[in-house]
Amino acid sequence: MARRTEADEAADAYERHLADHDRDRRRAQGAFYTPPELVAWVLDRALPAAGSVLDPACGTGHFLVAAAHRLGVRAVHGSDLDPDAVRIARDRLHAVDPAVPRAEIERRVVVADGLTAWEGRTFDAVLGNPPFLGQLRRHSAGRSEQHRRGLGAYTDTSAVFLHRALDLAGPGGTVALVQPISVLAARDAGPVRAAVAGRGAVTDFWCSERPVFEGTPVLTCVPVVRIGAGPATDPDTWGALAAPAFGIPPVTLPAGTGTLGERATCTADFRDQYYGLAPFVGDGLPDGTPLVTTGLIDPAESRWGRVPTRFARRRYDAPSVDLAALRADAGGSALARWADARLVPKLLVAGQGRVIEAVADEHGAWLPSVPVVSVVPHDPADLWHLLAITLAPPLVAHAASRYLGSGLTPGSVKVSARQLAALPLPTDEVAWAEGAELARAAQHATDEGRPDLLAATGRAMSVAYGADPASYDWWWGRARRRSWREADK
Ligand SMILES: C[S@@+](CC[C@H](N)C(=O)[O-])C[C@H]1O[C@@H](n2cnc3c(N)ncnc32)[C@H](O)[C@@H]1O
Repeated sequence: MARRTEADEAADAYERHLADHDRDRRRAQGAFYTPPELVAWVLDRALPAAGSVLDPACGTGHFLVAAAHRLGVRAVHGSDLDPDAVRIARDRLHAVDPAVPRAEIERRVVVADGLTAWEGRTFDAVLGNPPFLGQLRRHSAGRSEQHRRGLGAYTDTSAVFLHRALDLAGPGGTVALVQPISVLAARDAGPVRAAVAGRGAVTDFWCSERPVFEGTPVLTCVPVVRIGAGPATDPDTWGALAAPAFGIPPVTLPAGTGTLGERATCTADFRDQYYGLAPFVGDGLPDGTPLVTTGLIDPAESRWGRVPTRFARRRYDAPSVDLAALRADAGGSALARWADARLVPKLLVAGQGRVIEAVADEHGAWLPSVPVVSVVPHDPADLWHLLAITLAPPLVAHAASRYLGSGLTPGSVKVSARQLAALPLPTDEVAWAEGAELARAAQHATDEGRPDLLAATGRAMSVAYGADPASYDWWWGRARRRSWREADK
């Protein structure tokens, strides 16, 4: 560890000052400074043996000082909009090597906008911890720069810095910027992930399941991008990079076996159905048709009529639709046609949860409430096979990693109708058939009997997808807590 200088103490004092007295400024600048272990991790991976380094939003210079200890003060360059922080960074570098004239340090570490400074220059490594701000602030040239780069107005500043850094790193160079984990899945960061794929590949990745920046709960990661490296990192699967940090097992799904969409039609309903149905919904109507909301769906279990739920801002013990009244209503014909189309054997899938939650409506007697997704098999005999697919641990792990960083609790699973349709079918038909039988038994079981049968279904479906057992253990750890809720009482 290098000896701490007076200038280092000044950097600490400045950060404490921002944290304790100048929170608005800290938030406006996105000034949350990087812990030394993370700086070291980045330098270990990103620093060239010799050459030039840029931190485009250098703050008080944590990355620059650490890099200067390894490569010399003359190797480092930095910019920051905050003149106080830049002054401290310069002092610290001067203390690292007093032989380097101050004037030279002042040319290398400048008060400037990191998104527009350094035009026409390239560096062997571009690293650091750029500001995380949902939208760029006034002082920064950011918004127009963002526009010029073809990035949307909601792209996080940190991702705009990542985009810029790809231009500032020379051939064979490295980019390693701290990012919020939203970079993994956010739609607005999609063009930035695509730009990374166009220039190189993510060759190293750091992520933490806990916040590491004092004063902010944001979860962060560092994708280390090597310019010119291959194979390119698929812009749609960055979540998989972070999966291990969240305990989600890596899985490789079979390709070429066909998709669930070839066996069933997956449909989400719209607000129209929701508002249209509302006047015809009552509680426990004697001849009513059960209306199943997401909260009532557990794996292979409907809790309709057993636990209360909410629909259209009202609480119901057993929400049911008066179909006769709906059919008799002059304005209800489109809705009646919708109901008839839905009253067939199908799966009802809850939108989002700890695992994929789906239940089979074997008699075609239930209506889905938005946002429940209906999966209607082309051949009704496939119903239990389809339910078994939703209980396949590798698929659930795949969906969980896909949504890492999307704003859901990490590890949550969310599946849209389109994504359900795209799920691959199992490769092992025998294990799949066994899974289908077990899924049927699980749904027909008592609350006491169901957990064992669900676990057995998960094991059979792991085999059906040829996956190693890690995804089963992970899935069961999450699924059991739900399915044993009743039995635990
Ligand atoms: C999260 S801090 C990180 C500082 C430094 N990388 C570190 O870890 O010690 C982000 C820094 O970005 C600066 N900043 C904000 N917008 C900027 C911009 N457009 N150009 C350069 N720096 C900027 C802030 O002043 C702040 O010092």
